[in-house]
Amino acid sequence: MGRERRRLLVANWKMHFVRAQALEYLKIFTERVRNINKTELVLAPPFTLLETVGRELQKTQIKLAAQNLFYERQGAFTGEISPLMLKDLGCHYVIVGHSERRRLFGETDEIINKKLRAALDAEIAPILCVGETLEERRAGRTQQVLEVQIRGALHTPSPPSGRGSPPPLREGLGERSEDLVIAYEPVWAIGTGVNAEPHEAEANALFIRELLAQLFSAEIAQKIRILYGGSVNPANFEGFLRQPNIDGALVGGASLDPEAFAQLAQMAERLSELS
Ligand code: 13P
Repeated sequence: MGRERRRLLVANWKMHFVRAQALEYLKIFTERVRNINKTELVLAPPFTLLETVGRELQKTQIKLAAQNLFYERQGAFTGEISPLMLKDLGCHYVIVGHSERRRLFGETDEIINKKLRAALDAEIAPILCVGETLEERRAGRTQQVLEVQIRGALHTPSPPSGRGSPPPLREGLGERSEDLVIAYEPVWAIGTGVNAEPHEAEANALFIRELLAQLFSAEIAQKIRILYGGSVNPANFEGFLRQPNIDGALVGGASLDPEAFAQLAQMAERLSELS
């Protein structure tokens, strides 16, 4: 039986590359992954490269993602980027709530909820990042933390008194549930070279899927893709790919090398051809 969910591999370039570097990268990467069609490939360059990279990707099967967005459509918000602007540049996905944004830029679950809704409203598929810190893991609170983050991001917290509250996300999501992606990224595994054990990541991915079934429905939960992120590289990726509830990866460091990232893509494709 084939896999129900299409595998997804996302490169999060974070704050790396200027135009010449990006173009050099694309020359190598697009060539290496030309044959890939079962696995969905996505590049998330910084804002400044969205147009350059997006133009090159138009000639390929690879999709474009942004790393962040602001939740208002337009207005006096100096320095911010709106969902409409991302849509205009051809972004198919947007990363929301990355742990670096939570930790360094003070993003709360409430802000992340607004960003997620704004992305869906603009028909950009959000890749929602969740994950526990080392302290939380040591305290045995991983799943509790994941639950708070997911409920906070996906579900309307108690409605603000008086003013009209937004409808529950479930209604907004509806048919487009496949457009939501969750990335399980344990904070302690990000950029450290220490990845989670695949079976541990799988247990947490399963926990997330069961929670999604409660929040939406079993059917929708089966369609939502759950990625693993945190020190993924060609040596450890296959262990994650073989887990039934892990549908791909969100890759930082290893995605900066076009050869290494293409290798990850080929690994995912090979397994997808088998299953
Ligand atoms: P690394 O792959 O560098 O650990 O980064 C993971 C990440 O944060 C992707 O969003």
